[in-house]
Amino acid sequence: MYVARDRRATGVGRVLLTALEERARTLGYHKMVLAAFPWNAGGVALYQRRGFRTIGIYREQGVLDGHWVDVVMMEKILYGHARGEHDDASKLEA
Ligand SMILES: CC(C)(COP(=O)(O)OP(=O)(O)OC[C@H]1O[C@@H](n2cnc3c(N)ncnc32)[C@H](O)[C@@H]1OP(=O)(O)O)[C@@H](O)C(=O)NCCC(=O)NCCS
Repeated sequence: MYVARDRRATGVGRVLLTALEERARTLGYHKMVLAAFPWNAGGVALYQRRGFRTIGIYREQGVLDGHWVDVVMMEKILYGHARGEHDDASKLEA
């Protein structure tokens, strides 16, 4: 997602991301997953404000301008579901 510099911090990113989430729901997607650069405070803030959760950091995930760069992985579950014992990862998060 990219908002023109002179239109940032006016709510455009929030509107675009909300529309994208609605499109994903309409298509029946269960979750959205994204990767952001750790230094991208604006992007990460936008995703957090829209309910995306940080999963962790992939170290040296790719090369940018000749240097290995990390990415922050984030997710948002679009529909809730009843968890079963088999898929409950909360024990691992403690
Ligand atoms: C990241 C980007 C898409 C955000 O779009 P935007 O239109 O400026 O964001 P909005 O005005 O809709 O703000 C959405 C929320 O994020 C927060 N936010 C946005 N930019 C922020 C910043 N630099 N620092 C802190 N919070 C920020 C706002 O406070 C807002 O929270 P709120 O809904 O509680 O008011 C825009 O800055 C951009 O195009 N950046 C360059 C491209 C880029 O980095 N894309 C993301 C790649 S991962």
